[in-house]
Amino acid sequence: MIQSIYRRGVLGVAGVGPVAGFIKRQGFKLGVGRFVAGEDLPQALEAIRALERQGFGGILDLLGEFVETREGANAITEEILATLDRLSVEPLDKYMSVKPTQLGLAVGAELALQNARRVARRAQEVGAHICLDMENSPYVDGTLDLYRALWSEGFTNVSTVLQSYLRRSMDDLKALLAFNPALTVRIVKGAYREGPQVAFPNKADVDANYRAMVGLVLDSQAHVNVASHDEAIIREVEATVRERGLGPDRYEFQLLYGVRLSLQRALRDRGHTVRIYVPYGEDWYGYFTRRLAERPANLLFVVRGLFG
Ligand code: FDA
Repeated sequence: MIQSIYRRGVLGVAGVGPVAGFIKRQGFKLGVGRFVAGEDLPQALEAIRALERQGFGGILDLLGEFVETREGANAITEEILATLDRLSVEPLDKYMSVKPTQLGLAVGAELALQNARRVARRAQEVGAHICLDMENSPYVDGTLDLYRALWSEGFTNVSTVLQSYLRRSMDDLKALLAFNPALTVRIVKGAYREGPQVAFPNKADVDANYRAMVGLVLDSQAHVNVASHDEAIIREVEATVRERGLGPDRYEFQLLYGVRLSLQRALRDRGHTVRIYVPYGEDWYGYFTRRLAERPANLLFVVRGLFG
């Protein structure tokens, strides 16, 4: 409960204009670089190369979200396409996360679909996987519609995300599994500020739903990306996959750049596929504040940066 209040408090304060302005001006001095690989693509690619040398996979994530104009969405789509072109000449495992509002979902579903199609097609051409990240609750239906439309058009290189804090997510998962038994889905707890009508206010319920959702995918024929740093849950998943003899075609672990490095290494050393989410770009503010909201110690780290 206290954890939920802290999280909602930090996300609330982060939305206040002068606070945002101040943190944006201070930038990397406040420790943004701990969670963000850099402000440009070459820095992000360097981070992914380093991860691959250590036996991890990377997920490239161009920061930026809640784009509210057609021009803005088209511009960021062009940047994603250019990133895919750049990836095509890199000897890397090609995997990119995209936020549906980058593609124009906040402007309209039709624009988002047009742009998503261009991204999925270019990704298919260069052998890349695209994950449609899940943003806040007003965009869940639109994101799932995009996923279904792309899959129906033959873009089998696309996956999406469900958040266990949303009351609706278990039903969404069942519907997705019925739609596509060969689904690849990332399960996360959820990082946005949501009200109790749509999201479980208690962490215990979020965690229980997380376990149930991952369990359902492991019981199916689908592939689950277990995206969490929760060691108790991770241990349970490890026990299940070991008992059932499930391999990398059915699950992988995904963790965030800069978070729980010892856990990342331990999972790799225990023989699992581990992929690290590598955000980069100038628009790091929303991403950074969500990481602060997840853990009080991260906020202390920033405060130390201010006075240190
Ligand atoms: P939980 O919050 O219970 O934390 C478990 C433990 O992990 C903590 O005790 C702490 O030790 C450690 N930990 C967690 N966060 C930390 C942090 N920021 N810094 C340091 N330690 C931390 N969300 C979303 O809404 N849409 C999305 O598309 C995605 N995508 C995504 C991809 C990947 C690869 C990951 C790992 C996560 C996401 N998320 C996300 C974020 C997710 O919803 C969630 O906010 C974070 O993963 C934190 O929750 P945990 O599952 O780690 O558990």
